[in-house]
Amino acid sequence: MTAVIHTRAELAAAVAGAPEVAVVMTMGALHEGHRTLIRTARERSAFVLVTIFVNPLQFGPNEDFAKYPRTLEADVEACRAEGVSVVFAPSRDEVYPGGAPQITMNAGSIGELLEGASRPGHFAGMLTVVEKLLMLTRADVAYFGEKDFQQLALIRRMVHDLELGVEIVGVPTVREPDGLAMSSRNRFLTPDQRRAALTLSRALQLGAEQTDAEAALATATKILDEEPSVRVDYLALTDLLLGPAPAEGPARLLVAAKVGTTRLIDNVAVNLE
Ligand code: PAJ
Repeated sequence: MTAVIHTRAELAAAVAGAPEVAVVMTMGALHEGHRTLIRTARERSAFVLVTIFVNPLQFGPNEDFAKYPRTLEADVEACRAEGVSVVFAPSRDEVYPGGAPQITMNAGSIGELLEGASRPGHFAGMLTVVEKLLMLTRADVAYFGEKDFQQLALIRRMVHDLELGVEIVGVPTVREPDGLAMSSRNRFLTPDQRRAALTLSRALQLGAEQTDAEAALATATKILDEEPSVRVDYLALTDLLLGPAPAEGPARLLVAAKVGTTRLIDNVAVNLE
């Protein structure tokens, strides 16, 4: 049985007595990526709690907060099918009683790179809600996707730096059969844009087959340049903490681009030799 609750009082009652609370945080519009996080959590924990909250604090004034898809009924159905114990779908007031918080997270220098450079305030807002939800749910373990690689790195860093005492588990990116990374925003793509968006994963995949940094970036750049309707925001090769790429060993190739009005991100592992 999946309980659907909306208030922090119900949440406190729901988690009381659970031997281990495993949490999957989402903004809803659940797809196979989210469901894989839930399944991974279910493999280990009997009690899995999914949060569904479109966090206003992490959207910029010109971003898609108003038009972000809200599909609660279908989301609850997906959670039922995956054996989720509790769905917590709070209102804005329930998460931010008294309005926007005075005290918020600072995402530090990692928060200013890449996504942070393009979306000022995004990571501070994201970390603020993740911290609040970790506390409200009394999470022992929380699962996040590598799809949002910088987000995952920042959450790990927040938990480490602020001694939050929660285990963070990263889950590999789930893709459509043709390679496109699954995203709630993919539904905004027209068929032509959907075809163009494939350039992102293709560029990353071919880039990741290279073994030196320059070749990885050059290969990915060439493929992205061939698709004029993909407007690249950044393409970057970094170490696993988003710093400069190492001379050799594990690295990450990350891309962000707009296709039409939809902003897409993706990343892959690269092994430099
Ligand atoms: P949202 O975009 O809904 O994503 C919720 C979780 O699902 C995140 O951990 C994200 O990395 C993961 N996810 C999304 N697409 C995925 C895919 N294709 N493969 C694997 N995992 C995927 O990320 C957020 O919401 C918010 O910032 C949140 C953490 C909930 C805070 O508001």
